[in-house]
Amino acid sequence: MNGVEMKGITKTFGHVIANQKIDFDLKYGEIHALLGENGAGKSTLMNILYGLYRPDSGTIFIQGQKCDFRSPFDAIRAGIGMVHQHFMLIPGQTVWENMILGLNDIPQILPKPEIKRQIQELSEKYCLQIDPMSFVWQLSIGEQQRVAILQMLYRKAKLLILDEPTAVLTHQESQNLFKMLTRMAKEGYGIIFISHKLDEVMSLSHRITILRKGEKVGSVLTSETTKEKLAEMMMGQKFVFSIQKQPISAGSLVFDIQNLRVRGDRGFQVIRDLSLQIYRGEVLGLAGVAGNGQQELCEALSGLRRIESGTIKINQQELANRPPRHFIKKGLRYIPADRRGVGLIPNMMVDENAILKKYWKDPISKGSFINWREVDRYANHLVRKFDITVPHVRFPVKNLSGGNLQKLMLGRELSDSPQVILAMHPTWGLDVAATKFVREQILKKRDQGAAVLLISEDIEELVSLSDRLAVICKGEIMGVIDKPQEITPEVLGLMMAGTPLKNIQKVSA
Ligand SMILES: Nc1ncnc2c1ncn2[C@@H]1O[C@H](COP(=O)(O)OP(=O)(O)OP(=O)(O)O)[C@@H](O)[C@H]1O
Ligand SMILES: [Mg+2]
Repeated sequence: MNGVEMKGITKTFGHVIANQKIDFDLKYGEIHALLGENGAGKSTLMNILYGLYRPDSGTIFIQGQKCDFRSPFDAIRAGIGMVHQHFMLIPGQTVWENMILGLNDIPQILPKPEIKRQIQELSEKYCLQIDPMSFVWQLSIGEQQRVAILQMLYRKAKLLILDEPTAVLTHQESQNLFKMLTRMAKEGYGIIFISHKLDEVMSLSHRITILRKGEKVGSVLTSETTKEKLAEMMMGQKFVFSIQKQPISAGSLVFDIQNLRVRGDRGFQVIRDLSLQIYRGEVLGLAGVAGNGQQELCEALSGLRRIESGTIKINQQELANRPPRHFIKKGLRYIPADRRGVGLIPNMMVDENAILKKYWKDPISKGSFINWREVDRYANHLVRKFDITVPHVRFPVKNLSGGNLQKLMLGRELSDSPQVILAMHPTWGLDVAATKFVREQILKKRDQGAAVLLISEDIEELVSLSDRLAVICKGEIMGVIDKPQEITPEVLGLMMAGTPLKNIQKVSA
């Protein structure tokens, strides 16, 4: 056939059956979505197609020819490209250096101008603006993704695998990506698209294959299905998307941030005179386009970044520029956007990660020793409570699927009784059921009295969870909306672009 066929693919990791006798096919010119809950085996199947893993059994055919990929190198030669769920770029190298990594037909004396010209040509053709000379560490997540896509195109891939490309993108960036993918499919590229966002899958793809617990449930034409049917196929039961929210009963001031000024990595001021107050039992949402200081704000509020001036108080205790452990002791819990870099230590085990914020406390610690029996009990308790799929708690975190990583971190942060929860993109990469679970957990903590600062780019998430909604632009607060459900997209858009709320109210008054 004209495309790729995977037949009877089975892959196990120890006792975990990640893929069981899966058949999958993709035609050139088609956008084929791959769906399934966290840990269903999507990334594994695609890593096999990309030559990163070898299947225990099963065969891959490209254009009817049987292929035996021994490494991604073989897959790249066969015209396959992959953008991974967690990018595999080298931060200390420039964009153009990353492009040629691993290619072996590059001459010893590098034709730099020629390479840069080719990159520029490709980036113009597909509207993927990027400066080939910048270092990868200087780029935002959205820009890094552009590099990863360009890298595939530069290597002349005809079959593109995108593993959750929109999990980390803003709405606008996602829309641009979809335009580009649709155009590429028309030009004859074959595209495999993994996402947990069913609306995206419904609007973008031609065909959908659903996996459940390592097995294929079926393939359907997008035009012949609905979101509800897809959710049912993924989970094996009907699913209610909406969540219940109790009326707010906010109490005393818990988290008090006054006149905060913070500098970013490049030395510029990224938070300017920012003040926010969050009360007991409320969720304050923070909306804004990515890169407007949200990341630095979170770091400052959790003690990870020094502040230039201002105050940060939890229950009236001043914490500015104190070490992170002081924040933790005062009851601050932090769910960072970067799970692998900041939230967890991938090379350590599940149980070790579970106790990172309490290993010095009784009963986990006894004198100078760790009580491993207690650690084991506690880690198993988290695994059960947060429904984390893992063979045992002495399992390295780096081998968990994306969604299970996030559940582990959430479990650690939301246990005990947090006073303040700082959550940045808490549902990135989670399947529909896990997303609902996490949102309910955050609301539960709010109902128990936590003050929550929720930073997200998902407007629907912000509106459905927040009791009040602040908007940030260039490190300043544009205003705080008291009834988020009543806000219009126009007003929100204006505020996100830098118009203060009071100016908008003046005009409409
Ligand atoms: N290298 C590995 N070693 C051990 N187990 C692994 C490894 N890679 C994946 N697994 C396990 O295989 C199963 C399938 O994982 P996979 O990453 O394919 O899921 P996924 O469908 O991509 O999930 P998500 O939506 O969370 O990204 C999981 O239970 C995971 O823990
Ligand atoms: Mg995955």
